[in-house]
Amino acid sequence: MEGFPADFVWGTATAAYQIEGAVTEDGRGPSIWDTFSHTPGKIVDGSTGDVADDHYHRYAEDVAIMPELGMNAYRFSIAWPRIFPSGSGDLNPPGLDFYRRLADACLERGVTPYATLYHWDLPQPLEDAGGWLNRETAERFRDYAAATQQALGDVITHWITLNEPWCSAFLGYATGVHAPGKTVGPEALHAAHHLLLGHGLAVQAMREGPVGTLGITLNLSSVRAASDAAQDEEAARRIDGLANRLFLDPVLLGRYPDDVLNNAGVAKWFEEVRDDLDDISTPIDFMGVNYYTRTTVAGPDDFVFHPPTIIGPGGSEDIRTIDTGAPRTQMDWEIHPDGLVDVVRLVSDRAPGLPIYITENGAAYPDEVTATGTVEDEDRRTFFELHLNAAREAIEQGLPLRGYFAWSLLDNFEWAFGYSRRFGIVYVDYETQQRIIKRSGHWFRDRLQVAISDS
Ligand code: FCB
Repeated sequence: MEGFPADFVWGTATAAYQIEGAVTEDGRGPSIWDTFSHTPGKIVDGSTGDVADDHYHRYAEDVAIMPELGMNAYRFSIAWPRIFPSGSGDLNPPGLDFYRRLADACLERGVTPYATLYHWDLPQPLEDAGGWLNRETAERFRDYAAATQQALGDVITHWITLNEPWCSAFLGYATGVHAPGKTVGPEALHAAHHLLLGHGLAVQAMREGPVGTLGITLNLSSVRAASDAAQDEEAARRIDGLANRLFLDPVLLGRYPDDVLNNAGVAKWFEEVRDDLDDISTPIDFMGVNYYTRTTVAGPDDFVFHPPTIIGPGGSEDIRTIDTGAPRTQMDWEIHPDGLVDVVRLVSDRAPGLPIYITENGAAYPDEVTATGTVEDEDRRTFFELHLNAAREAIEQGLPLRGYFAWSLLDNFEWAFGYSRRFGIVYVDYETQQRIIKRSGHWFRDRLQVAISDS
């Protein structure tokens, strides 16, 4: 694409539970998302990921779309309960075989696989033992990561340990809008710590295995105070703390932001686990950043810790997120392309030179198939164009941005929103499982195929 280096990585991203279906096939065990989606009232349209995009059976057809669109990389996730159906213990070879077939299909078409090891589908037996509130889950994650890399390291060399630990910890254990649906208050920060520990232990264990390029994906927010009033600045500090610094600082700097722990009232507990920071900050080869939106916040006079909201990560239920009047997507997320540069800078300020990939960026809009069978998602196409302009700007500013993965290849099961939100550059008819490349997909193809043939 014009203005991007010839070796820039172009891909799309997906996650296992959102697309695979086949939830009981080939020995897969239940995950917290099976339990959660089958619990009445948890998913807005009452749906589950039982079938989803049936990608488990249609993966070859789906992989074939990628080079057609000019993409040279694919970020997917591996379902832990396919590899270890009960979370630990016996490995399930048919589960590994699926990902080997998937990776082979990518490689045959010149597409480099980027595998995420944890995109939220914790094996249910591990949740029954306390989930991410239990320190041992970090060790089980290390074992699963090492075993999976050992088995697939000849075909997969790019590994992402966790996807968005903020969501796993805060949506899973504080607001409860994601699996496992717990609402434990500030203790959700313990879950965040165990996730980060799992990441660090996994990186250490994987360094002993086949040669690989290892990283983690964080969802970072561009956070801004509504005004320069002291309480708004304080609100912004707190939200930036919970959303960004609580994850970036331990991984990249080997320390926790004390103000965040103090505000949440968990400083004492964290004192006891401070030694884990050496493991958590084990050097990585790249940082993955998922960027979607900006959050503008205003504060009250009194601050108390409450579960973060789904709109903007909290720190106080009294912190208000402000509608700036800028256009929003169907998720009600403000469109703010320049924020992409801000979040890339958050990483490079802490780790100058560390390669950065945008591992997700995209938009939900209510798509319709036209009478002629096309999907004219002009708003999504514009979203991508604006954000790629920002990515180009980041590169021009000298930031080490090395790749971009659009979320998502396919419309899919959007967690608590079920099938009511479409993010794909390829439309999925859930009745027939037909795939239709949307206008946004054709737009990528037009730009990327030229770049590939030029280079
Ligand atoms: C991210 C998730 C991804 C998808 C997008 C819209 O938080 O990683 O699975 O749901 O949001």
